[in-house]
Amino acid sequence: MWWREGAVYQVYPRSFADASGDGIGDLEGLRARLEYLAWLGVDAIWLSPIFPSPMADFGYDVADFTDVDPLFGGLDAFDALLADAHARGLRVLLDWVPNHTSDRHPWFLESRAARDSSKRNWYRWRDGTPDRRPNNWPAAFGGGPAWTWDEATEQWYLHTFLPEQPDLNWDEPEVVAAMYDVLRFWLDRGVDGFRADVVHLIGKDPEMPDIPAEPVAGGHLTVVGAHDYEGTHELLRGVRALLDAYPGQRMMVGEVNLTETALIAPYLGSDDELHLAFDFASLGVPWEAAAWRRRVADVEDIMGPRWPTWVFSNHDQPRIRTRLGGSEARARAAALLLLTLRGTPFLYAGEELGLEDAVVPPERVIDPGGRDGCRAPLPWTAAPPHGWPVEPWLPWPPEPGSRNVEAQRADPGSMLHLVRAILRARRASPALHAGSLALLDAPGEVLAFERAAERETRRTWINFGADEAALPAGWTAEVRTDGRDGRALAPDAGALLRPA
Ligand code: GLC
Repeated sequence: MWWREGAVYQVYPRSFADASGDGIGDLEGLRARLEYLAWLGVDAIWLSPIFPSPMADFGYDVADFTDVDPLFGGLDAFDALLADAHARGLRVLLDWVPNHTSDRHPWFLESRAARDSSKRNWYRWRDGTPDRRPNNWPAAFGGGPAWTWDEATEQWYLHTFLPEQPDLNWDEPEVVAAMYDVLRFWLDRGVDGFRADVVHLIGKDPEMPDIPAEPVAGGHLTVVGAHDYEGTHELLRGVRALLDAYPGQRMMVGEVNLTETALIAPYLGSDDELHLAFDFASLGVPWEAAAWRRRVADVEDIMGPRWPTWVFSNHDQPRIRTRLGGSEARARAAALLLLTLRGTPFLYAGEELGLEDAVVPPERVIDPGGRDGCRAPLPWTAAPPHGWPVEPWLPWPPEPGSRNVEAQRADPGSMLHLVRAILRARRASPALHAGSLALLDAPGEVLAFERAAERETRRTWINFGADEAALPAGWTAEVRTDGRDGRALAPDAGALLRPA
């Protein structure tokens, strides 16, 4: 299956490439850069939301699920993009946002209009008084209450995120049917699948119990019972059946934003719920061999025969290189790790260039969730404005003069060429894209594992230590991140090995 074997590349459309000249990326800009993505060697792209939106949460507040915002170029631009992507062998995933809509979505406007509106039950309305919320759930982004009082109709509505993002009521069969229609609309158009936004939240305990007063580790999204409700699994089985009825390996990767792999794995069901689920537990793992060894062992133990995913960066989190203190050597070694572990890797646009988060001055902060830094625009060329027609909507990431596509494509020793070489090795090797994983004993600060398929093995060695580490006898380096020859692996470096 392509979604097990391939590597997925996340495009944050506002920050990728701008053709219209308004400083915000768009689909024509992306289409003009598909050549780059095919050259890089990824298998699929996932686009963060491109639908009409007031942009209170930069597109995760959707006002129409079956159209494309004019800012991004409209439906025709999408059809052209999809056709060109497919012609280049690139699959396309859209971001399906099932838990909530914009408060400007016609469904919510109608729901809000009156208590006896035919769409009242499409959202989660509750009785109460203005001074008494239905429960103590906090909202994301700032931690205010997850309930907003509607003066006109004198009820509360639930919003797990901003007040501009009311939660849909998946207990209402008409909502299920409407959201199925959304999936069909895009599947009929030819998309290869979806990344499903906070999909673990669609089922909710009808009792809506208070959460414990003590803060729960990992934040508001992880409250078992409130946010890990068993009813969600039945809903996901329905979605899976819909996708699997289409020809051509359509898939859904769900954002299951729970803190532990053991909580996330059940969302794959018995291979009858999500095809894949994001596992963000790796984001907090420190740069230490022992910690990574534990992490890999945990994933193997918990997932068993199920297929993991690996995510080191996305549009919600500080970039991996920023988290690693800015070191390019570490970012390179991390790329080798990401792309050779067992599972589907998700590369976030710019990770292949070793980008860091932009430093965003207070007067340019625009995201209510504090995530502007990792959403900085991609620099395409060395000279300002770096391949954009005008200065883009957010500040540049550090050192755009050297960390850009043009400069790194011209330099065979660049991080970009390294990532391309790893992707190529991965595609050519069944051990890497489909094989099993076994941790190996290794000296000191080295993480070592073996990937094996029927007639083939590969080994990954990552040296987390401050000293050189000797590579094992009998193995030769197919790719190494330190650019060296010989048997000594540099500190903060990795090697992909094959039998000599
Ligand atoms: C997900 C998205 C994030 C968004 C939130 C609400 O976590 O990745 O960007 O703000 O859901 O839709």
